[in-house]
Amino acid sequence: PVKVECARSGRTVEVPAGRSILSALQEADVPVAASCREGVCGTCETRVLDGEPDHRDDILSEEDRAAGDRMFVCVSRALSSHLVLDV
Ligand code: FES
Repeated sequence: PVKVECARSGRTVEVPAGRSILSALQEADVPVAASCREGVCGTCETRVLDGEPDHRDDILSEEDRAAGDRMFVCVSRALSSHLVLDV
């Protein structure tokens, strides 16, 4: 599981392997807007404050991916065991 710390809402949410970060956050009542849930529309864009995202979206360029400061939580996961998001 990945631990996702939500800097703004003060929650920490555990995301099991088969689950999207988006659905885990929404279930914990952390507000994140979403639309396509497939990594193509950009609605769920979230700032990454710490940790290493594992980008699975079709939006970011290679450069954006390497910068690692934002992610699309409907499809992207984490390479680190811990992420801190600006939500
Ligand atoms: Fe569309 Fe995440 S909801 S990119």
